[in-house]
Amino acid sequence: MGRGTPRASPKCVKKLNYLLLSFVAAACSKGAANQPPDPSTNAPPPPVVDLDKAKTVFTQRCVPCHGATGNGDGPASAQLTPKPRNYTDKVWQASVDDAYIEKIIKLGGAGVGKSPAMPNNPDLPPEVITGLKDVVRGFNQK
Ligand code: HEC
Repeated sequence: MGRGTPRASPKCVKKLNYLLLSFVAAACSKGAANQPPDPSTNAPPPPVVDLDKAKTVFTQRCVPCHGATGNGDGPASAQLTPKPRNYTDKVWQASVDDAYIEKIIKLGGAGVGKSPAMPNNPDLPPEVITGLKDVVRGFNQK
């Protein structure tokens, strides 16, 4: 190697390596961002709600006791002690979470340590149970 042979200085090679690395890194991270989300870390899909069906079921199964206005004064409530829940009671609404409401609708009063007069609904699919919970919550705004 004679003097004056054009060679890349070690400093220059280092810089080139760095440039190359950052280019590769940028390309890689871009690739990662474009990949579909890892299915193993995916959150469960949001629950499907069948509100139309729930409203029909509510009229058929719940209104006789809880009343069309949700006040707990349906025609079948007269002989009951304790009385069916008044859904318009904001204090009660604030005291229960959605999971509890869905649980008592599915299991009935006996399933959550409440009056067994509140019937269970084991035949209803989850989307109707969720819809009924939404109907019950809907009385909170009135
Ligand atoms: C035969 C009458 C009857 C029917 C029908 C009925 N319930 Fe009830 N429900 C009750 C009674 C009684 C209670 C009060 C239970 C207690 O306080 O121990 C109650 C309580 C509840 C509560 C509140 C539970 C609590 O902790 O305060 C919810 C929510 C509820 N019912 C939803 C429903 C829904 C939704 C339907 C229709 C799918 C329905 N109920 C049908 C009688 C009934």
